Amino acid sequence: MTGFSTIAIDGPASSGKSTLGKKLAAQLGYLFFDTGVMYRAIACVAQARNIDIGNEKAITGLAENLQIDVRPPRVSDGRDNDLLADGKDITWAIRAPEVDASVSVIAAYPGVRTALTSQQRRIGLRGKVVMVGRDIGTVVLPEADLKIYLDASAEERAQRRYSERLARGESPEYHDILKSILERDRIDSSREVAPLKAASDAVIIQSDNLTVDEVLKVVTELLKG
Ligand code: CDP
Repeated sequence: MTGFSTIAIDGPASSGKSTLGKKLAAQLGYLFFDTGVMYRAIACVAQARNIDIGNEKAITGLAENLQIDVRPPRVSDGRDNDLLADGKDITWAIRAPEVDASVSVIAAYPGVRTALTSQQRRIGLRGKVVMVGRDIGTVVLPEADLKIYLDASAEERAQRRYSERLARGESPEYHDILKSILERDRIDSSREVAPLKAASDAVIIQSDNLTVDEVLKVVTELLKG
């Protein structure tokens, strides 16, 4: 498996990229890097600071200056890491439905993408990394050794997100989640800079009828060549 040092996993909202990426990274002893948390951090802090999501200049300034940090967890509440923004713990705050609803808007701003993509690329080029997002195989690490595009129907993805929220003790509404996912897909796929799409050399995995372990098995086989 040593020929694969950089692994890119892209795909739409809730397609299971993070779950797959985490397991794969653990199996290989690689760093797992979920780039979505960086976009979520910007959207979350903008809301906390009452910065208008539509104010591209202010949001871009925030993306250029916000210190985003991922550290080993100091609280044991099911989190994998602590996510800090200018020193403040926002680990769970980035998962709020309000963040889901605004993150794709800020992720479409070219200045935001420039600021975050350069940091992601710097980390990815060190190798031994599984990097997850929307544009890893197309823009962030086009030279990745393996590119996966993980897909599933919107209904299946909404069901997965619904179960996740239920398990966290929340009271989710399936139809609200489906609507939010469809809207995010629409914005992510139609933006001008780095839209969501499979790289021409990506392996596309349709995961509707596959369990997490079955998807992992497909990828493990790919790594064996
Ligand atoms: O976990 P989920 O699949 O719902 O989303 P995420 O990976 O946390 O990403 C949240 C949002 O950030 C996406 O809907 C995109 O708008 C944006 N994003 C992006 O534009 N580029 C990336 N590399 C990662 C996320």
